[in-house]
Amino acid sequence: MTQDEMKQAVAQEALKYVAKDTIIGVGTGSTANFFIDALASMKNDIKGCVASSIVTQKNLESHGIKIFDLNTVEAISVYIDGADESDAKLNLIKGGGGALTREKIVASVADKFICIADESKLVNVMGDFPLPVEVIPMAVNHVKHQITKIIGGTPFVRENFITDNGNLIVDIKGLKITDPKAMEIQLNNIVGMVTNGLFANRGADILLLGTPKGVRVIEG
Ligand code: 5RP
Repeated sequence: MTQDEMKQAVAQEALKYVAKDTIIGVGTGSTANFFIDALASMKNDIKGCVASSIVTQKNLESHGIKIFDLNTVEAISVYIDGADESDAKLNLIKGGGGALTREKIVASVADKFICIADESKLVNVMGDFPLPVEVIPMAVNHVKHQITKIIGGTPFVRENFITDNGNLIVDIKGLKITDPKAMEIQLNNIVGMVTNGLFANRGADILLLGTPKGVRVIEG
């Protein structure tokens, strides 16, 4: 089974968590794109979606799925998105596609967060994947210094990349994230950083993990 086939399998499985006549949140990335393809088959069963990025919004619209502005909705029944890494407690690293801020906002509003990923994303200790953080451009040097001082690792500005919010992404390499909840809070205190890519204090509720033997359901 290829990695894409595993992603497709979890995307299909995620449809079981989509409640009829509700608004759902949709993430960003290749696995989320497979989910959008699958969701098209039941687009008339839901009210519509809140998108976590401009690219996801365009993809949903191309399937004829209605988009809602987050400020106009009362509830999001479920948020479905991929991840760059997950540990066994369903703490996540996200932001490989640079959409972490909107993803974190939609995830925090949603009643339930279903993460969909192929088995390569499940790790013992997170940090091999560089941790993305979104930064206000004028603060980038300050933020890099603070990262080095407070949590360590080596921060690199992502080249030729501007977020949907007009900001920069800094990727932090060389971390061993043994306490993701504490690290997320430490990073939240750095002025000039908009969002960090640790989804730990609001991690996933369920991880649907694609394996060659089928979809594993891991509860947080
Ligand atoms: C985008 C994300 C994605 O969910 C993450 O990068 C995983 O992407 P993919 O499904 O392509 O492996 O956080 O900001």
